[in-house]
Parts: sequence; C-alpha cells; structure tokens
Amino acid sequence: MMKQEPIPFNSQTIRSDFDVNERISVYSGDAIDFLKSIPDEAFQLIITSPPYNIGKEYEKKVDLKEYINQQTIIINECVRTLRATGSICWQTGNFVENGSIIPLDIMIYPIFEQLGLKLRNRIIWHFEHGLHSTKRLSGRYETVLWFSKTDNYVFNLDPIRIPQKYPNKKHFKGPNIGKLSGNPLGKNPGDVWNIPNVKNNHIEKLDHPCQFPVELIERFVLSLTNEGDWVFDPYLGTGTTIVAALRHQRKGAGSEIVQKYVDISLDRVQKELAGVLKTRPMNKPIYIPPSENNKETLLYESY
Ligand SMILES: C[S@@+](CC[C@H](N)C(=O)[O-])C[C@H]1O[C@@H](n2cnc3c(N)ncnc32)[C@H](O)[C@@H]1O
Repeated sequence: MMKQEPIPFNSQTIRSDFDVNERISVYSGDAIDFLKSIPDEAFQLIITSPPYNIGKEYEKKVDLKEYINQQTIIINECVRTLRATGSICWQTGNFVENGSIIPLDIMIYPIFEQLGLKLRNRIIWHFEHGLHSTKRLSGRYETVLWFSKTDNYVFNLDPIRIPQKYPNKKHFKGPNIGKLSGNPLGKNPGDVWNIPNVKNNHIEKLDHPCQFPVELIERFVLSLTNEGDWVFDPYLGTGTTIVAALRHQRKGAGSEIVQKYVDISLDRVQKELAGVLKTRPMNKPIYIPPSENNKETLLYESY
C-alpha cells in the first residue's frame, strides 16, 4: 500500500462522528455503536485498554464468559475496520475471581487467533507503583498484545530506538575492527518497557482511575503507523490515544461511554492542538529518590 501524503493539519475540528477526511473524532457513547459507523479498513492502528471487569466505576461486573463474549463482539468489529497493513494492540491486566488472578490476555488471545491475526509481541509494561498486596506479590506489570492483521504490516523501528548502553563500543576483531558495533541510531527497545503509570504525582494525572501514560502510546503510534494514518481507541477514557496520535501528525478517533471522560478528552485534545498539554517526555529516565543505602539521587534508564 502506498504511503499516504502527510495531511496539512490546519483543521482544528473535533467531530463527534467519523469523517475519514477529517482529523479528530471523539464519539460520546458505546464503542460498538461508533464502530458500526466506520467503513472497512479505515484505521491503521487500534490501541486500547478495555474495561477489565473488576468493578471500576464505569463498568458493571459480569461473569468472565459474558465478558469474553462482549470483547469478542468489539474485537470482530475492530478487525473489520483495520487496514491490511494495520495493527491492534490490546492492553490488559488481571481479572480477579475468588482471590485468584486470571491474566486477561490469556483469555483474549484466542479471539484474535481465531480471526487470523498474528501476535507479533507480548509487551510487558512494567511500572513501579500500585496497590501493595499482603497475600501475594504486588502486581507491577500489565501486558500489551500486539497483533498484525497480515504479514505485510507497518513496523518502523528507527523512530523508537533508544540510546545504546555503551554507545562507543567498537568491534575488537574481524573485518569491522575499530568500527562501532551498535547501531548509531540506538537500539531496539525490546519487549519489556519500564514506563511510569499515571498515579497521583504524575504530570498527566486527571480524574480517571486508569489512564495510559502518553509515552506508552507514542511508541506504538511511531512504530506502527505513518504520518496521516488513523489511530483509534474504542475505550478512549481521557483521550490519551488521540493526544499521542496528534502529537506525531497522525489522526485520532475514539469512543467513550462516560460523559465526564468525554469532556476530559475534549479538553485534553484542545490543549494538545493549542500546544499547551504537558506530558511526561518519551524515554525520560526514571527518577529514584535517595535512600538509606544510597545517598545520591539516581536516574536510571527507563529501558
Ligand atoms: C481502562 S479505561 C481506558 C483509559 C484510557 N486508556 C486512558 O488513557 O484514559 C476504559 C474506559 O472505557 C470506557 N468504557 C467502558 N465501556 C465502554 C463502552 N462500551 N464503550 C465505550 N467506552 C467504554 C470507560 O468509561 C473507561 O473510561
């Protein structure tokens, strides 16, 4: 498929329906209703964090079988609206039942497999903060299942390369002796990402219980789409996916069922368009405060 020309982004219009020729859609309502209005193969990237069915304020807890049925309906529609070169990234944590954890990605994987999608990576998103468990180890990661629709999928590694640990390391023997042994553009970030989650002291924190950090989505946008492509989030929450898409000259669409979050998304998108939205920069090192054992403030790489 030909790479689209970057669109001249002079439109500041935020539509409440979907127009492929526009740039931003924020739909207030159920994801399935929005998806029904979308033409086949409209989106290059669909990235989301669905409700986990753990009784958050915006979800009605249902039994796991019913939850998987609901996810199957949404995922079917997502795949229909995904381009042949496109990807879907489904970010999940655990469902908890009678004290037992059930990793949702294990339950959801077969839905994608049956639709013929290929799992390219299971990314571990590691973060340092969260609930402190007393009867098991505290949970400090969630996963993102990255599927491509076909074998001919967009994957741009260079925009997401991270600095080499030893950038000046050279070959010490062989035909390349004396030359740099690593890629000067940086290294592949791997499939374990240490990115702070959005807790109270995070610069992006809003009135929502489980926001994505923008930098998490930026990596997917940069690697799995090209400029001018559409990125869609069926469970938009605070609009993070659209913010990450716009920041990199992509187009963004999302649906959100709770009006309070739709309003937050609209506000955030407007701030992003005005260039005043503050976010944690991609690849910023992670801060470790000084402690008893270590008197110095440390910064370590977030990868
Ligand atoms: C895990 S949160 C996503 C948060 C989002 N990633 C962000 O960065 O803010 C899931 C969101 O899905 C919304 N939601 C739940 N059921 C929905 C549905 N059927 N259609 C659209 N949105 C829904 C919830 O209100 C919630 O804001």
